[in-house]
Amino acid sequence: MRVLVVTGAGISAESGIPTFRGTGGYWRNLDPTKLATQSAFDSDPEIVWQWYRERRDMIRRAEPNAAHRAVARLSAGADEFFLLTQNVDDLHDRSDWDGYRIPAGQIAHVHGDIFTTKCERGDFSRKETPEDSTGVPRCPKCNARLRPGVVWFGEGLSPHEVARVDNFVRARPCDVVIVIGTTVAFDYIVHWTRLAAGRRGRLIEVNPDDRFLESLGAEWVKENAASALPCLVDDLLSGSKRM
Ligand code: OAD
Repeated sequence: MRVLVVTGAGISAESGIPTFRGTGGYWRNLDPTKLATQSAFDSDPEIVWQWYRERRDMIRRAEPNAAHRAVARLSAGADEFFLLTQNVDDLHDRSDWDGYRIPAGQIAHVHGDIFTTKCERGDFSRKETPEDSTGVPRCPKCNARLRPGVVWFGEGLSPHEVARVDNFVRARPCDVVIVIGTTVAFDYIVHWTRLAAGRRGRLIEVNPDDRFLESLGAEWVKENAASALPCLVDDLLSGSKRM
């Protein structure tokens, strides 16, 4: 069984990480989809840093939930597996199934990593350090402002990450594509999903509130990820054994 899993903020909601859109998305009356922009950083870098600092703290304290673990289990049981996540948290990287973790080579974080800090001008980047904990940190190389190493609205994706996803989805169609907890707001996510499912792949969307892939013929599992994924993965793995 060849599998692509696509995740968004909804898979981490039950670990206590607020989603971007919808209920609980706002932070101090500010809209996260406006905070995650260069223009917000230009007009108030302190407030943008403060938001990311709080998210870093929250993510550090959070634990992977049953959905993250089920995805790890699926990755262990599938013949070929790739995880495309829009999440900048590290909950997929930290989750395991019976000690098995998804290898880093099979995960693409297309929107970056919240624990990376990078120069807004040059190519300097590093894992977070205590200097990131107040104010607006400065680049040790060129003194420009440092910013979180995530992709903001209107910015391009890392060509390296794009190539990794492309390599997987273009190699051959998947038997199963599962899209979990995302409003699928970006065309490239729809494009990769469509390409991966091809004509015959089974496409499954897990979202308790809404569906976005009906036009692609996706089955809709209208449930929270942490309750849906363990059963779904059980079914898929037992089905694949029977084949
Ligand atoms: P969103 O916040 O747009 O959407 C989260 C989705 O998860 C919503 O459709 C919710 O209904 C659903 N959801 C909520 N709780 C859930 C649960 N327990 N189980 C399953 N689904 C649940 O998040 P994304 O689609 O990930 O990008 O947003 C995409 C991108 O936009 C983010 O990566 C970020 C954001 O702004 C950038 O910063 C570039």
